[in-house]
Amino acid sequence: MQVTIAGAHGQIARQLTTFLRSTGHHVRGLIRSEDQFADIESDGGEPVLLDLENCTPEEFDEALDGSDVVVFAAGAGPNSGPERKNTLDRDGAIKTVESAVRVGADRFLIVSSMGADDPPQDDETFSVYLRAKAAADEAVRSADIPAVIVRPGKLTDGSATGAVELGESVERGEITRADVAAVLTEIIDSGNGDGRTIEIVGGSTPIEDAVGAL
Ligand SMILES: NC(=O)c1ccc[n+]([C@@H]2O[C@H](COP(=O)([O-])OP(=O)(O)OC[C@H]3O[C@@H](n4cnc5c(N)ncnc54)[C@H](OP(=O)(O)O)[C@@H]3O)[C@@H](O)[C@H]2O)c1
Repeated sequence: MQVTIAGAHGQIARQLTTFLRSTGHHVRGLIRSEDQFADIESDGGEPVLLDLENCTPEEFDEALDGSDVVVFAAGAGPNSGPERKNTLDRDGAIKTVESAVRVGADRFLIVSSMGADDPPQDDETFSVYLRAKAAADEAVRSADIPAVIVRPGKLTDGSATGAVELGESVERGEITRADVAAVLTEIIDSGNGDGRTIEIVGGSTPIEDAVGAL
């Protein structure tokens, strides 16, 4: 399949590219800096320049054209303020799913976050972030495309354990970025999970079984 990843230089996204290449998919990686081209190529992906916050719908559609699956894995990051939670985490995701629908992609996956189901209403940056994630998820849910919303717990570095706790609602916890990438790969390979919003943290169920049960 042709898989296009928005935010392809991210830590989850780069591991996802490597996993998808190893299972035979073609990966197009959307990035906003030419300095990152070599990294995407070394992961086996095809880099395409696209700033998710500052491009036209036409540029979006050109970048996503021909995609079977589109994955939104971008994030404004921990050092960004409330404004970019809205321009990237919310609006960047919404523009990506709208483009995926226009180009006729078959499926859409979004990396959301635990806590987005009931975000606090105060002005803390983290609350703005969770509300941005919630609004993006709602747009994905109502878009005319089969989609899976994946809400990881607190992300950690470290290698894949190959096992998770996965469900509509799971106890708060941590998960390695590698395990998140492995779950996304399994969702893409299995075709399972469309229409579902799932939370994931580290656990003891093999990823193939957890995604297989969706
Ligand atoms: N941290 C947590 O505990 C946690 C928990 C749950 C969910 N999440 C979510 O998990 C997702 C991925 O996490 P991660 O650790 O893999 O993220 P990451 O390493 O911070 O990567 C995010 C990527 O998004 C890219 N990006 C930002 N703005 C962009 C734009 N305008 N156009 C194109 N690309 C842009 C960044 O590129 P640049 O290098 O150009 O900035 C970066 O490569 C995020 O959506 C995050 O919100 C995080």
